[in-house]
Amino acid sequence: MSTILGIETSCDETGVAVVRDGHTILSNEVASQIARHAEFGGVVPEIASRAHTEIISQICGLALDHAGRPPIDAVAATVGPGLLGSLFVGVSFAKALALAYDVPFVPVHHLEGHLLSPFLAGKPAEFPFLALIVSGGHTSLIECRGLGDYHELGATRDDAVGESFDKVARLLELGYPGGPAIQRAAESGNPAAYDFPRGMAHGGSLEFSYSGLKTAVLYALQKEPDASVADIAASFQAAAVDVLIDKTQAALVQTGAPRLVVAGGVAANRLLRERLEAEISVPLHIPPFALCTDNAAMIACAGWYRYTAGHFGDLSTSPSPSLMLA
Ligand code: KG4
Ligand code: ZN
Repeated sequence: MSTILGIETSCDETGVAVVRDGHTILSNEVASQIARHAEFGGVVPEIASRAHTEIISQICGLALDHAGRPPIDAVAATVGPGLLGSLFVGVSFAKALALAYDVPFVPVHHLEGHLLSPFLAGKPAEFPFLALIVSGGHTSLIECRGLGDYHELGATRDDAVGESFDKVARLLELGYPGGPAIQRAAESGNPAAYDFPRGMAHGGSLEFSYSGLKTAVLYALQKEPDASVADIAASFQAAAVDVLIDKTQAALVQTGAPRLVVAGGVAANRLLRERLEAEISVPLHIPPFALCTDNAAMIACAGWYRYTAGHFGDLSTSPSPSLMLA
C-alpha cells in the first residue's frame, strides 16, 4: 500500500490531493483562481503564480487534514507543460515537502495525469487504449500502449478545443471559463441555426484545427450583431463536438484500440459525453465531472504509477513549460 501526495499548479488551479494506491482518494483540495482572472477574460501568468504562492500551504494543510494525516510515501507534482511561474511554485513546494518527509519526489506530466484520471475511481488502468485529451491547452489523440509508451496520432494545429470555447465565450460576452458558459447558453439554442465549419474534416487526417471555427463565429456576429447568443453557442458547440467524435471514431478504426479514454476539462461537456456514450462502440473511460478539469488527485494517481515503476525525480528537477508527452 502506498500513499502519494500530489500537487497541481500548472495553470490557474492550486490543487493538493492525497491518494492511496492510485485509486482511493483520501482528499482532493482545489483552490480556483477564476475570480482573479475573470476580468481579463483569461489567465494572467503573473497573477497565477502569485496566487499559487499565497495559498498552496493552506491547501496542502487542508488536504493532509482531510486525509487524516497518513504517512506519505512520495510527493508527486506536475512538472509540465504549463505556465513556468506557476509550475515553479508547485515543484519547489513538492521538493521541499519530499525533503522534509524524506521520501522520493516524483515528477508528473500534466497530460499523463489527465489520461490516467478515469482510473482514479475504480479499476487500475488497462493498457492499451486510445486517449482523446481535450483541455484548454491540448487537443490530442494518443495511442497509449503502456505506462510512458505513448504515440501521438494527431493534435491541434492552432487553438485547443477548450481554448476555442473560451474565445467564443469572450466574443459572446459570456465570461470565463467559456466551456461551462457556452454549454449553459447552448441549452436553449438551435444547434442547426448556423452551419459552422468542421476543421480538417476531410482527408482522413487525425489533426485538428479550431481557429477557423472561432473566426466563423466572429464573422457571423459581425454580419448579424443581434444574432441569438443561444443559437450561436449551440451551433458552435455542435461543430466543435462533431469534429471530436468523427476523429475519435477514425482513430479507433485506425488503431483497433480496445478501449477509449476521454479526459481534460472539455470532457466535462455534456453534449460530448452524451454523444460518446451513444456512438462509441468500445468501452469508454471518462472521469466524473469533478475530475475532468485540473486537479491534484490525477497527479497523485499518475504519481503512484510512476512511483510503483520506480520512476523517481531528484531534487534538481526543474519545471518544463512545453514538456512533451510522446
Ligand atoms: O483540463 P483543464 O482544466 O485545464 C487545462 O489543462 O487546460 O481544461 C480547462 C478547459 C477550459 O478551456 C474550459 O473552458 C474547458 O476546459 N471546459 C469545458 C467545460 N468545462 C470546462 N469546455 C466545454 N464544456 C464544458 N462543460
Ligand atoms: Zn489540464
